[in-house]
Amino acid sequence: MFKDKCVVVGITGSIAAYKAIDLVSKLKKKGADVHCVLTESAQKFLTPLTLRTLSQNPVITELFAEPHKWNVEHIGLAEAADLVMVVPATANLIGKVRAGLADDFLTTTIMATKAPVLFAPAMNHQMYVNTLVQENIASLKERGYVFVGPGYGALACGTMGQGRLIELEIVLAKAAELLFPEKPLRDIKVLVTAGPTREPLDPVRFLSNRSSGRMGYAVAKQAYLLGAEVLLISGPTEIQPFPGVKRLMIETAQEMYRAVLAHWEDCQVIIKTAAVADYRPKTQSREKIKKQSGDLLLELSRNPDILAELGKKKKEQILVGFAAETEKMLAQAAEKARQKNLDFIVANDVTQEGAGFAGDTNIVSFVFPEGQVKSLGKMSKDDVAKHIFQEIIKKRQAKE
Ligand code: CTP
Repeated sequence: MFKDKCVVVGITGSIAAYKAIDLVSKLKKKGADVHCVLTESAQKFLTPLTLRTLSQNPVITELFAEPHKWNVEHIGLAEAADLVMVVPATANLIGKVRAGLADDFLTTTIMATKAPVLFAPAMNHQMYVNTLVQENIASLKERGYVFVGPGYGALACGTMGQGRLIELEIVLAKAAELLFPEKPLRDIKVLVTAGPTREPLDPVRFLSNRSSGRMGYAVAKQAYLLGAEVLLISGPTEIQPFPGVKRLMIETAQEMYRAVLAHWEDCQVIIKTAAVADYRPKTQSREKIKKQSGDLLLELSRNPDILAELGKKKKEQILVGFAAETEKMLAQAAEKARQKNLDFIVANDVTQEGAGFAGDTNIVSFVFPEGQVKSLGKMSKDDVAKHIFQEIIKKRQAKE
């Protein structure tokens, strides 16, 4: 099943290291070409000889050892790899990769490879829940590194908790997913808008909203992972796009309007996650507005409704909108889906705990113009994005 796939198995110094022996044997049985890399502490738990015998390849233990073949070996292996797995991955190794350190063979390979990298962490529960470790994992995930586990159960240190190496079957299933990713959106161009817009009032002030951009960035990431070419048109946000997603930054609704209109026609799927300001200050003062003794009245002009405009123009495109509501969510969303000629709208009640702009979760319903509703429970924004594309892929298949 993994025939002709070059899999690098990095092993670090955790008591779970002995399970890597079984992993290597299973990978070999599946036909993979397995190369084991042991960190210095892993060698205290395992001998290279065992792994060499099972993998039928030299085992790498040192960065500057005499090469087996003439090339810069860690770069050669990083280039040849179809998948790099770190099983088990200690807090130390995860921290080093997050910090961008490359001081041994394994960390250098991880840094130099273009292949997917899968970590299966194993450590003491308190270490695992430490915010430093959690932040490192979150940051690596944002950059496209993949994690599986850890599982819950009895730990070698005598305690119970989350921290055990997850079952090898689950690690292998994840490896299969990474080696043979499904790419149902291959050859498809997807346009995603995300984040807030800013409508300037004077050189130092603007009108904006609470959108963080997280939902739109998660949608762009999912589209990319499913094989699409992705253009993300984004308002101001701190978030970095998933590697591979092309991003165009804009500030105002009018800039977003122009950017979207310049690109939509080439795209087959358009998802408008952005929280676009409906109004902008009628005049923009060149100088900072000075305070007066009385009140200040702001006059606002309507911004173009980008989504409604696309709804009028669209041909074969699948067009998906978002609706942030605070009351009568489903009725309002259905009305918007009809008015804006959408395939469906993703509605969320931003007043609900766990939904809306801030945070990593959302609670949404898909509302179709004909009135059907599909409600999803509370889930991560990545999972919401996965569901959105399941729906889009169904729609595309129905149109074919
Ligand atoms: N939208 C847009 N251009 C605007 C306003 C909104 O493209 N000027 C898009 C958003 O990206 C979103 C959808 O329209 O996909 C719904 O946005 P929302 O603000 O919830 O709805 P509105 O249509 O603006 O209606 P209202 O503000 O009255 O609820």
